[in-house]
Amino acid sequence: MKDLLQALTPGERDWRLATQLDPKRIPAHIAIIMDGNGRWAKQRNYHRIFGHKAGIAAVRIAVETSVQLGLEALTLYAFSVENWKRPRHEIEGLWLLLKYYLQRELSTFMANDIQLVAIGRQESLPSTVQAELQAVMDKTAGNRGMRLNLAINYGGRTELIDAMNSILENARLEGNLDSLEITEDSVSSHLYTAGLKDPDLLIRTSGEMRVSNFLLWQIAYAELYVTETLWPDFNRTHLLEAIFDFQNRDRRFGGLTRTPLVNTDSPAFMLEEEMLELPLA
Ligand code: IPE
Ligand code: IPE
Ligand code: MG
Repeated sequence: MKDLLQALTPGERDWRLATQLDPKRIPAHIAIIMDGNGRWAKQRNYHRIFGHKAGIAAVRIAVETSVQLGLEALTLYAFSVENWKRPRHEIEGLWLLLKYYLQRELSTFMANDIQLVAIGRQESLPSTVQAELQAVMDKTAGNRGMRLNLAINYGGRTELIDAMNSILENARLEGNLDSLEITEDSVSSHLYTAGLKDPDLLIRTSGEMRVSNFLLWQIAYAELYVTETLWPDFNRTHLLEAIFDFQNRDRRFGGLTRTPLVNTDSPAFMLEEEMLELPLA
């Protein structure tokens, strides 16, 4: 948070927004469904791939701002297991852009202590993409500043299936399949995001009100924020606005709000026994 304020000019819009944030309640982990690239291109009569290309600039801004805010993790949805349904030339364009992004950003990752981790089934990606991802993952493996998860060929259900199979495989290897018991901890620790906190905030751009098979387990208690802004237009201001909105949510996790709505001193307050005596209608 300190880094962000230092990077901003006092008085400017983002500085004013940033100073309204509570530095103690910055989300530890933000996940983003980067949607709307195609529509952004269509609005300009461009081919869809130009929307994806423009989306790279938004990725750079989101990553830079997340580092400056001091996030522990940022998870970006870049390609879903369902996205293979798209035309081949669009998919190939995406792989080209991904390789270009990785090559260009390596120095940024190193300078900012960012560890890049690809989450998803990498074995089905073209070999050149796998090699580029692996190279960047290896080079950034020792970085501890911020974890950047790139969800590529990712599916929430696929991830859960992979986790279950990995739990089974481990039990088989250890010879305790018969006594195997699945727990929340064992599932969490076999997900692609093992060791990371669950996202506090899930942002989706382009106005779609769905999760599209993203982090199904991990978003159990994430705050959802949907903005009409298309991904290529999503900038630092939008990210700060999302965090501001997040900080004004009442996260109850099934419990009660921190400021009790019921004043137990008020004459209207009733004991449970008194309540049970009341007629239902
Ligand atoms: C999101 O933008 C990026 C990917 C899924 C790769 P879209 O390509 O889904 O853009 P829209 O939703 O068609 O506008
Ligand atoms: C979700 O967006 C996947 C990514 C952002 C990578 P889609 O555009 O594929 O999702 P749907 O089809 O609208 O649900
Ligand atoms: Mg879309």
